[in-house]
Amino acid sequence: MNILLVHGPNLNLLGKRQPEIYGTQTLDNINHYLIQVAQKQGVELKTFQSNHEGAIVSEIGDNIDWADGILINPAAYTHTSVAIRDALSAVTLPVIEIHLSNIYKREGFRHHSYVSPIAVGVISGFGSHSYELALNAMINILQQIEKENTG
Ligand code: DQA
Repeated sequence: MNILLVHGPNLNLLGKRQPEIYGTQTLDNINHYLIQVAQKQGVELKTFQSNHEGAIVSEIGDNIDWADGILINPAAYTHTSVAIRDALSAVTLPVIEIHLSNIYKREGFRHHSYVSPIAVGVISGFGSHSYELALNAMINILQQIEKENTG
């Protein structure tokens, strides 16, 4: 079981960036922890971060044959990017959208997501724990799909 985790712009600054909103954990901490959680369940987790929309689009497309599911925190591109949404639609894999903060508690422009309508679900507002919740949810979904395909 292979899962791709994509982090959007400015998430490379986690730990230093507005810790009152995004917490004190660095992206490396989060990624390493999640890779271990995945490994314990026999899942391979590949992580990717970029500040560039096109690089994110390419990473999604490049993993069409590798990934069984995609976890994505599109960060600011959540609210602007048709291209990332189209890339996610194109690969036809289950997608879970993740946010550290509760985007509905924040400015109005964060309330709209281009990704949510094509995601299985959204996890928003639990700080770095949002990622672990999403990982476990994705593993569950993929196990379900595996069961349906074998049974
Ligand atoms: C974010 C929320 C977005 O609105 C914001 O642009 C981010 C991070 C979150 O994880 O809470 O960069 O996706």
